[in-house]
Amino acid sequence: MGLHELLSLKDKIALVTGASRGLGQGFAAALAEAGAHLSIVSRHRDELTDTAERVKGYGREVLSLQVDVTREADVREMVAKTVERYGHIDILVNNAATERRNIPPEETSLESWSFVIDTNLNGPFLCAREVGKVMIPRKRGKIINIASMSGMIINRYFHGGSYDVSKSAVVGLTKALAVEWAKHNVNVIAVAPGYYGTAPNQKWFEANPEIRQRVIDMIPLNRLGKIEELAALVTVLASDVSNYMTGSTVVIDGGYTLW
Ligand SMILES: NC(=O)c1ccc[n+]([C@@H]2O[C@H](COP(=O)([O-])OP(=O)(O)OC[C@H]3O[C@@H](n4cnc5c(N)ncnc54)[C@H](OP(=O)(O)O)[C@@H]3O)[C@@H](O)[C@H]2O)c1
Repeated sequence: MGLHELLSLKDKIALVTGASRGLGQGFAAALAEAGAHLSIVSRHRDELTDTAERVKGYGREVLSLQVDVTREADVREMVAKTVERYGHIDILVNNAATERRNIPPEETSLESWSFVIDTNLNGPFLCAREVGKVMIPRKRGKIINIASMSGMIINRYFHGGSYDVSKSAVVGLTKALAVEWAKHNVNVIAVAPGYYGTAPNQKWFEANPEIRQRVIDMIPLNRLGKIEELAALVTVLASDVSNYMTGSTVVIDGGYTLW
């Protein structure tokens, strides 16, 4: 198979959770550019319009669904509707997550802790489980879990806690599913991004401009990541290039975790 063919996602079916904005929107657009048709989901269907337009702009089909990834019934319906529309699923990008709470552990309520773990760990598990049921009989599929470098280190200037633990567990979930589903030829891979200028970070940096500079000073490449750089990586991992990769976590952080 030539390189062009390996990289192509022509007529593949991809499902991206948390696709209404930020990184998820970038992933959906890049997958469409590489040739995939998309199911895009978030809790607010009306907020998926921009992403849907970007997908259509590449001449691909798009199905927009209102889904809360923490609700089992929603996740089952998401998979059923996607299969009804396209027949199968080749790629799942488990991207939906809630942002860091930035609360010291001794002040973290069980409610706040559970909300983060439910969204960032249980949600991706439910999505992988239900999509896995569709991929296993076909003996093919790619699941890309969006973890974080916070799954490996604890960020400075923010309180560590439920977010870091949830992302570290996503790295563990990736390994566990990779081993279980290798026999079914379903590749499970995680990506661990550093800092990108999406809404949760922008909000924090605008409120604390001096921290923005200190964070950038901690990144060897001395800048935030660009959504299109990360989206291109996810697209490559979703392609046949990753056929011999499973259980790995790919760090893309400008070198932040090196120091
Ligand atoms: N930005 C960074 O620097 C960075 C770094 C490392 C890792 N990450 C990870 O990358 C992913 C995307 O981050 P981002 O910065 O793009 O986040 P974002 O701008 O906050 O977007 C989050 C997306 O997830 C959706 N979502 C949240 N809860 C959901 C739920 N329960 N069910 C379904 N959809 C839900 C949101 O839409 P609704 O609100 O409409 O549901 C939105 O589309 C996350 O997994 C994040 O942890 C980001």
